[in-house]
Amino acid sequence: MTAPAPPATPAKDFLSILDLSDSDFHKLLDLSAQVKADRHLALRAPTAQALKGRHVGMLFEKPSLRTRSTFEIAVHELGGHSLDVPAQFADGAREPLEDVARNLERWVPALVIRTYAHDKVMAFASAAPRLHVINALSDQEHPCQALADVLTMREHWGRCQGRTVAYVGDGNNVATSLAHAAPRLGISVHLAAPRGYEVPARVVEESARGARDGATIKTFVDPREAVSGVDAIYTDVWTSMGQEVEGAKRRRVFRSFQVNSALMAQAAPGALFMHCLPAHRGEEVTAEVVEAATSVIFDQAENRLHTQKALLLMLLG
Ligand code: CP
Ligand code: NVA
Repeated sequence: MTAPAPPATPAKDFLSILDLSDSDFHKLLDLSAQVKADRHLALRAPTAQALKGRHVGMLFEKPSLRTRSTFEIAVHELGGHSLDVPAQFADGAREPLEDVARNLERWVPALVIRTYAHDKVMAFASAAPRLHVINALSDQEHPCQALADVLTMREHWGRCQGRTVAYVGDGNNVATSLAHAAPRLGISVHLAAPRGYEVPARVVEESARGARDGATIKTFVDPREAVSGVDAIYTDVWTSMGQEVEGAKRRRVFRSFQVNSALMAQAAPGALFMHCLPAHRGEEVTAEVVEAATSVIFDQAENRLHTQKALLLMLLG
């Protein structure tokens, strides 16, 4: 009897931080740092022709500034072209989305997709065995954001072991992917959310399983307790795309979870402020915290480009 084939490395798709082995996770961060350092070389960068002659599909069902721009630029700077796949083709009305995926895989090696139901990203990935599907945000996960977040923390801290990041607010897609990613670098995660808005229990278990170097995951209902002595405070909007009808209720429920100077003062001196953006000043965060010297939000936004370039290089070889 022949032995089963070892799991593909890297995995075909990037739907979740959990799709990366430990070794690929670290390789990807190192490669991100390398492409960041090489960017000034422009066309002389060693990876400037890596996607030459290839197209990468972009299918976005929700608005995007950072993710879309950085993927488009990454593909272009790797010598490839992007293909706009209109969102109307992903609603299953004109043809089943599995057929859309099977068409696309005959033309492009990869599809970047932003959608609502995570199942749709999975359906694209399983319908087309040769198409590398990249989750550019679903209602459950935002793994591309988390890659940039951990690179940013690594840049600011160097050695991450023993550090703690507190995520304060909605237990959403961004919180999930942060919890999946940070503990793999030895960063403990505190998750503070109002009751009923926590990340699913499954996410806490998955994150704890991936934790290295003594990192832990803890949940809190009191934001002040969650941020006490931490090295970074992270927040995201209270109302994610697609939840707009709940906006007024969420503003009431989350009021005491605002990241303001008083909350930042509970963290360790010099603690970083992090946000995936877009930020709503006066809601989840005050303008003062956004503009503080310890705010690294635009470093995170910049790192979206470098980490996604590395991801494309890793998946498409
Ligand atoms: N952080 C982020 O994903 O931003 P966009 O929604 O603008 O892509
Ligand atoms: N949680 C937010 C993230 C936006 C980048 C949303 O899904 O709208």
